[in-house]
Amino acid sequence: MRLNDEITQRFSQGFDQAVAAGMPEPTAMTLSTVDERGRPSSRVVLLKSWDADGFVFYTNTRSRKGRHLAANAGASLLFWWRENEQQVLIEGRAAPVSDAEADAYFASRPRGSQVGAWASIQSSELENRQTLLDRVAELEDEYRGRDIPRPPHWSGFRVDPDRIEFWYGREFRLHERILFEADRDGWTRRLLYP
Ligand SMILES: Cc1cc2nc3c(=O)[nH]c(=O)nc-3n(C[C@H](O)[C@H](O)[C@H](O)COP(=O)(O)O)c2cc1C
Repeated sequence: MRLNDEITQRFSQGFDQAVAAGMPEPTAMTLSTVDERGRPSSRVVLLKSWDADGFVFYTNTRSRKGRHLAANAGASLLFWWRENEQQVLIEGRAAPVSDAEADAYFASRPRGSQVGAWASIQSSELENRQTLLDRVAELEDEYRGRDIPRPPHWSGFRVDPDRIEFWYGREFRLHERILFEADRDGWTRRLLYP
């Protein structure tokens, strides 16, 4: 569900406060996915863009998380901005971004990261580190003097939220929790006990 003005404002204000507080990686978020048997797993990814339509990260679509999302689109994103004592929990469904959007973002990445996206068979077993470095060297040769195209298995997912909770740390553990839940008619807003 498209974010309403209050959610947009709260997210953007929290993010800006984290930046102002000097937080080193405010875009880092814990992405949780669920496999086809219902087993959950989590890892950190970086938020690369967001707007009222959702929150975008990029990855290898054949990775463990990519396979999970292909089988079960349910995903959660968790931000903990320690410096400004805020937590944001976003739950919803992840859908691939368009090829054009992924191409544009890939083209903006440093060349080394572009090579890395080709070189890494993310989440597969790696015999030894040298094998990866050899793959990188081969790819650098292959693309020398040329633009590096986006690998077909490297793209983005946009999480379209239906539940968002903002948590604000307050004195004496009397934290403030504001929960937004979406249904067909829009967002409802509730407070939760801490
Ligand atoms: C700070 C940080 C940022 C990361 N950003 C990304 C990212 O944007 N995309 C990504 O695929 N992996 C990123 N990773 C690596 C993932 O946490 C994870 O190890 C990798 O994606 C493989 O996960 P999977 O086997 O569950 O698919 C990041 C790790 C850290 C610690």
